[in-house]
Amino acid sequence: MFSLKVPTKDQSLRDLQKGGELCGKVKVPGDKSISHRALLFGAIAKGKTIIEGLLPAEDPLSTAECLRSMGVKISPIKKGDIVEIEGVGLNGLQEPEDILNCGNSGTTMRLIMGLLAGQEDHHFILTGDKSLRNRPMKRVGQPLKMMGAKVSGRCDGDLAPLSIIGNKLRGAVIGTPVASAQIKSAILLAALNAEGSTTVIEPARSRDHSERMLKAFGANLEVGGEMGRHITVSPGKELKGQSIIVPGDISSAAFWLVAGSIIPGSELVVENVGLNPTRTGILDVLEVMEANINVINKRDVAGEPVGDIKVFYNESLKPFKIDGEIMPRLVDEIPILSVAACFCNGISQIKGASELRVKETDRLAVMARQLKRMGAKVDEHQDGLTIYGGNNLKGCELDSEDDHRIAMSLAIASIMANSNSTLRRSEAAAISYPDFWSDLMRLRQIS
Ligand code: S3P
Repeated sequence: MFSLKVPTKDQSLRDLQKGGELCGKVKVPGDKSISHRALLFGAIAKGKTIIEGLLPAEDPLSTAECLRSMGVKISPIKKGDIVEIEGVGLNGLQEPEDILNCGNSGTTMRLIMGLLAGQEDHHFILTGDKSLRNRPMKRVGQPLKMMGAKVSGRCDGDLAPLSIIGNKLRGAVIGTPVASAQIKSAILLAALNAEGSTTVIEPARSRDHSERMLKAFGANLEVGGEMGRHITVSPGKELKGQSIIVPGDISSAAFWLVAGSIIPGSELVVENVGLNPTRTGILDVLEVMEANINVINKRDVAGEPVGDIKVFYNESLKPFKIDGEIMPRLVDEIPILSVAACFCNGISQIKGASELRVKETDRLAVMARQLKRMGAKVDEHQDGLTIYGGNNLKGCELDSEDDHRIAMSLAIASIMANSNSTLRRSEAAAISYPDFWSDLMRLRQIS
């Protein structure tokens, strides 16, 4: 017997048409980082948590599914619906009957490691997709072990599948080697269940959504030290269910902010964007580039600053130089900023970005590879990229390499190419922005 292989059309292959301008209003979906935390903290609070604006995308769905497997009741997560969680309290998670699948989501796996470390006598196995099974986890496992956690996994505990046996934890003072909100948040979650207080000291301040939200849930948490790099949690307080409003994700808004700046004739208003200062590095860079960006309607929504952002095309954008200092404030925006750099007058430099190599893909290598296919001049370095602006890009066969932020960055780049492109694995965008392709179609005006 032999079988005849019939070639099937790649469903994820998307045609990307060159040209057109982007005009109108767009409301980006809920912030991914805040959505994960709302689900996780709601799950271990006492009483009901109500979430408005939760991101209905694959990554938060992974977090919700893991929590449901441990006995937490969470209402269906659908676009526009309020989500309700029946919290089980700090020690109320059940041992799941099966492995916990974190999908593509590093935030799910790392924060859940902290959550489970102190769930005494329960055994948990965490895994994820191929990308997640190759991302470093010892950076979380190691500090948790300093608190008494029992964590093991492939490659000396660095790679999933991971095994966690809940144990009695003790407070500790822990310096983290990288400014990572995922590491910090995992330690803070473990600290809620430890004996004695725990202090995390970061080399630079990472996004502070956990600190803000844990305080709102009633945790005993103090932020101190230079630039708020020392965070102390003292256990003993139950978390209380809350009402949370999730602002739009500035990391999703970034695609429109760059598109509006580089595509001739574009004029956009991006509504309801979270403007937490630990996340707004992209706005600082766009200012250096002299992009036409204007933040309006600034307001405070449930403990997070929010605003609308107006952007319109600027034909003479300046190049930029960024290094490790600003990196934690724009770490997820490097792919789209490297697209922006292709359309500046001059050479842009991205340094101190080696963390990008351990994201959903090696984002420095993937962006360099894909942009070079389009004819961009890019030098790849161990910790960054040098990008030469002002070259014309050509349409070609592109590939997201299964990375959501790469898919959306290449989509914006392809509009500026001199011929049409195709994008393989375009469905990756749904990890953080399920409506990206329909929003792009709606905003696009092709004459
Ligand atoms: C996130 C933190 C960042 C970011 C990720 C989401 C979070 O990672 O890249 O997309 O929600 O805490 P690191 O904390 O590892 O820098």
